[in-house]
Amino acid sequence: MGTLDGKVIIITGASRGQGEAEAVLAAQAGAKVVVTDIIDGQHVAKEVGGLFISHDVTSSEQWANVVQKTLAAYGRIDGLVNNAGIWKPGGVTQATEAEFRQIIDVNQVGVFLGMQAVAATMIAQKSGSIVNISSVAGMRGLRAIAYAASKWAVHGMTKTAARELGAHNVRVNSVHPGFIETDMLPQGIESTIANQVPMQRTADAKEVGEVVMFLLGDAASYVNGAEIIVDGGFIA
Ligand SMILES: NC(=O)c1ccc[n+]([C@@H]2O[C@H](COP(=O)([O-])OP(=O)(O)OC[C@H]3O[C@@H](n4cnc5c(N)ncnc54)[C@H](O)[C@@H]3O)[C@@H](O)[C@H]2O)c1
Repeated sequence: MGTLDGKVIIITGASRGQGEAEAVLAAQAGAKVVVTDIIDGQHVAKEVGGLFISHDVTSSEQWANVVQKTLAAYGRIDGLVNNAGIWKPGGVTQATEAEFRQIIDVNQVGVFLGMQAVAATMIAQKSGSIVNISSVAGMRGLRAIAYAASKWAVHGMTKTAARELGAHNVRVNSVHPGFIETDMLPQGIESTIANQVPMQRTADAKEVGEVVMFLLGDAASYVNGAEIIVDGGFIA
């Protein structure tokens, strides 16, 4: 028996990085996995025996398509991992308006649209788990003004949605990764790791994925509106 047996899980930004790791872990735990991404993810869908849907999280029309195709294929939606995201450094004196708006659109509006797209199905089912991937940048200041703004918004939207959807047995939680070994990991962070991460290392994407699996599963049945930090102690 897997911990996600029979569950249908949508994971955005799952063609690589943490989303891909989560797709693999979810399938190993027994879930049917819907891989979505703006880049091709057929290879991941093939690996996990699931479905790939081309998807830009900033488009409400494309969210409707993801929900419709998932329901047509599997008949229900038990989990959504709002994982897709983009990163750009730059403080308040460096970031451009265009960059700021683009990051907010993907990281913040994309998460809002995702929660909104699956809510009706989960409410009707009287069950569901939404996991929003924020960041340590959504818990402290960081010289990446747009990224930090978007990840603080994900943190706050998670609390708000948890309060709204909890009555329907739909749980909403956020995960806050630190320095994870994916294409997004900033270059030149060795001194930060050495001086500021108590565990003195970066993390494999699976180490975030395991926490996401917990939140998706029934073992987390009373965990709602929580934030789980996965950062080796960076912001402790
Ligand atoms: N890597 C880190 O150190 C780190 C730390 C904290 C938080 N995070 C967060 O973790 C999540 C996963 O990032 P990752 O580390 O796997 O990086 P990644 O760049 O490998 O993966 C991000 C994925 O999101 C997809 N994506 C980007 N824009 C999209 C859009 N508009 N619509 C759909 N998909 C889109 C990309 O194509 C990519 O596959 C992100 O939300 C990121 O902000 C990462």
